[in-house]
Amino acid sequence: MNISVVILAAGQGTRMRSSLPKVLHPLAGQPMLAHAIATSEALAPENICIVCGHGADQVKAAFPDKNLQWVLQDPQIGTGDAVKQALPHLPQDNVAIIIFGDVPLVKPSTISSLVSSGVDGPAVLTVIEENPSGYGRIIRDSSGAVVAIVEDKDATEAERTINEVNTGLLACPVKMLGPWLNALQSENAQGEYYLTDIVAIAVNEGIKVAAVTANSASEVMGINDKQQLAHAERLYQARIAEHLMAEGVTLFDPARIDVRGQLHCGKDVSIDINAVFIDDVTLGDNVSIGPNCVISNSVIGSGSSIKANSVLEAAVVGASCEIGPFARLRAESDVRDHARVGNFVEIKKTVLGEGSKANHLTYLGDAEIGSNVNVGCGTITCNYDGAQKHKTVIGDNAFIGSGVELVAPVTVEEGATIGAGSTISKDAPEGKLTLERAQQKTISGWIRPTKNK
Ligand code: UD1
Ligand code: MG
Repeated sequence: MNISVVILAAGQGTRMRSSLPKVLHPLAGQPMLAHAIATSEALAPENICIVCGHGADQVKAAFPDKNLQWVLQDPQIGTGDAVKQALPHLPQDNVAIIIFGDVPLVKPSTISSLVSSGVDGPAVLTVIEENPSGYGRIIRDSSGAVVAIVEDKDATEAERTINEVNTGLLACPVKMLGPWLNALQSENAQGEYYLTDIVAIAVNEGIKVAAVTANSASEVMGINDKQQLAHAERLYQARIAEHLMAEGVTLFDPARIDVRGQLHCGKDVSIDINAVFIDDVTLGDNVSIGPNCVISNSVIGSGSSIKANSVLEAAVVGASCEIGPFARLRAESDVRDHARVGNFVEIKKTVLGEGSKANHLTYLGDAEIGSNVNVGCGTITCNYDGAQKHKTVIGDNAFIGSGVELVAPVTVEEGATIGAGSTISKDAPEGKLTLERAQQKTISGWIRPTKNK
């Protein structure tokens, strides 16, 4: 049996009070809609059809590489009308599964069980809500069969006391949907074509409507405002933390880690509080991450330690390295095994060779640094002449004294020593001491200025 997914995402999301379309608001660093798409893909459907409307161009542009069918709903006159717009894209023999772009936490397994119940007729996903206000209520007859869904705004006092609500997710054979969608009326409190009305229509035709009840209200929560968005973010992060701990990762506080992408961990990884991982990050065995680190798109080799308050973006760190505290590795930093990068050191587009050290207050940009090099405190590669970037090359076993400026393009050959305080603009030969320093003078009779009264 083939599945067609329809994701409803045309609504404005007025309650977000934002100019960004609701489904583009990020959850765990990804647009809300990306989560619904990923969940849909996990079902291996024949096609995924997204109904957009409000901010349609912006929404489409956010997913340039995906194999998706976009359908425009304009004006947005209800969830029933939205599905009707998608209908021409749904093969007649498929089962359609309708999900909402603003319900990002629902698991593929929950949707799968709904699909299994929706093979011969409609199936709705319901949930028990402690506070059901705002939701459509599930009306059952005395035998317990679902007979209708009544929207909150159309419900009677008695119906409003019902705790079983509609999550909005619905599965149904495509064949059945067409005539029911055509039969929808908009004579209701909101003047909209409600998808939920197909339940009563089906029952009137003698067709049974199945109900699957989700076991957690938080899994199927809809996001309508910033408070719900923040709540969903915490739920999502808690789910990731749980997963990491199940894989053996030590989290100092599972409530204080944020993963906005994919985090892959080896064995015996430990992560201190307030670490943020963005996009794709891989941590090898025995890696430790100190508090307040922000790491994006990076690979960290086994046994390395990233100390407090370090920021890494698109960096590769080898094995047994020590980075930080307060280090910043920018794009194309390639720090090789056993190297050390200390506090207030910034590295960009630079190879720092095996066993080399830059321990304090240094900028290394566009540099190729060999192994066992010591870069003294306060060293700067002057890589930019105002127009072009130039390269600094430092050979193995070189020693760069403190406070050195290396004016690129420049080479410090293997084993060379550069005296502290030098501004090096010509290549420094192998194995020798090179320094550039004005002669030290002492001025006798000089008097310190004093303040005017
Ligand atoms: C809907 C359900 C309600 C359910 C609740 C669960 C209907 C009529 N009601 O109500 O039973 O309890 O969700 O959260 O289905 N959309 C469109 N086009 C439209 C209108 C909406 O694409 O013309 C999309 C929205 O972008 C959103 C989804 O459909 O992703 C739900 O719309 P929303 O207006 O939030 O419906 P609710 O009033 O929450
Ligand atoms: Mg809603």
